[in-house]
Amino acid sequence: MARGPRRTETRIVHAGRDPKVDNGGVNPPVQRASTVLLDKAEDMFRPGVWTYGIHGTATHRALKAALCELEQAEHCHLVSSGLLACTVPIMALASPGKHILVCDNVYGPTRRFCDQTMKQWGCETEYFPPDIGADIATMIRPETCVVFLESPGSMTFEVSDTPAIAAAARAAGVATVFDNTWGAGHFHKPLDLGVDISVQATSKYPGGSADLLGGSIVTRDEDLSGRIKQVITNLGLSVSPDDAYLVLRGLRTMTTRMDRHDASGRHVAAWLADRPEVARVLHPALPGDAYHDLWKRDFSGAAGLFAFSLAPPADTKDVNAFLNALELFGLGFSWGGYESLAIPCDPQLKRTSTSPDFGGKLIRLSVGLEAPEDLIADLETGFAALAASLAGD
Ligand SMILES: Cc1ncc(COP(=O)(O)O)c(C=O)c1O
Repeated sequence: MARGPRRTETRIVHAGRDPKVDNGGVNPPVQRASTVLLDKAEDMFRPGVWTYGIHGTATHRALKAALCELEQAEHCHLVSSGLLACTVPIMALASPGKHILVCDNVYGPTRRFCDQTMKQWGCETEYFPPDIGADIATMIRPETCVVFLESPGSMTFEVSDTPAIAAAARAAGVATVFDNTWGAGHFHKPLDLGVDISVQATSKYPGGSADLLGGSIVTRDEDLSGRIKQVITNLGLSVSPDDAYLVLRGLRTMTTRMDRHDASGRHVAAWLADRPEVARVLHPALPGDAYHDLWKRDFSGAAGLFAFSLAPPADTKDVNAFLNALELFGLGFSWGGYESLAIPCDPQLKRTSTSPDFGGKLIRLSVGLEAPEDLIADLETGFAALAASLAGD
């Protein structure tokens, strides 16, 4: 049988492996380097010659190759956090006097970077509703330099019409950047939908173990890649080879883990949807979710991250009682690891172009790799504590 195009899970198991460099090992060694010794003086300024550790080692090159395979990208840049993966492309595209368009459901620190740092550098940021679709064209100005998307929003889970937004931006000559941390390159391929730059926090699903920070920036566009590289080089950004190694190691098993996160997440979300204490479940893979059709069109699966609202009159005190009763769900701000996590969302919701009603106080869950039945039992304990809190006990 002829070999057809290989699937993501196959490609990321084998990508970036070089037996010559790895000495036959299945995993690459962690190569640490600042100084690189060169054979001849003539080599020292020759383009393309590796001259210094800040430009990455063999470990970084292996990870970059695997991340390119994940999203069928041509160029990959590594940074030391997911937030830098979001902010570096914006820095690469913006200059004083430019205008930045960002979706209103964006990760809070990305919004803060635009509102503070980019403002300080003379750029205006405007926020657009996640549902804007092709109408983004009406907000694009001659000085617009980037359209930044996150879909689904990692707190409120709206799915945008990415192909329509990317097409409108491209028609106007404006680059698009997409925070793909939720889809992680496994369930979502924004570059295939017309997006120019796809970024993700490798701290989440690629790392998968809640023990590293990292970010990746991938593109098929050589010019954009060059601009991103320039920012990284000029700022002197670098990634520890140990963290690069851990991300690569995590990536090998990421698709299998994510399939389980997906199945368990949907199981828990469907159970929550039937609870009388729950006003709404925000999970685009649930049939009946407002964004289900868009999700079905553009995604091949769902991360284990979703939210639900507690029906009124539950207030902050009741949300805290629910969360404090949980044992398996840890109270932690991250997601994508093997352990389940929960956070209250409301203190972090910052919207300026839209003011959606989620039906009550919002709680976000990151469903880990525990048995979903055990997670449901844990949530039942939370609901008992919620009832007691509502009763004034
Ligand atoms: C959607 C999204 N993008 C980016 C980041 C930033 O990742 P990091 O924590 O590695 O800076 C996060 C972190 O929570 C996130 O949720």
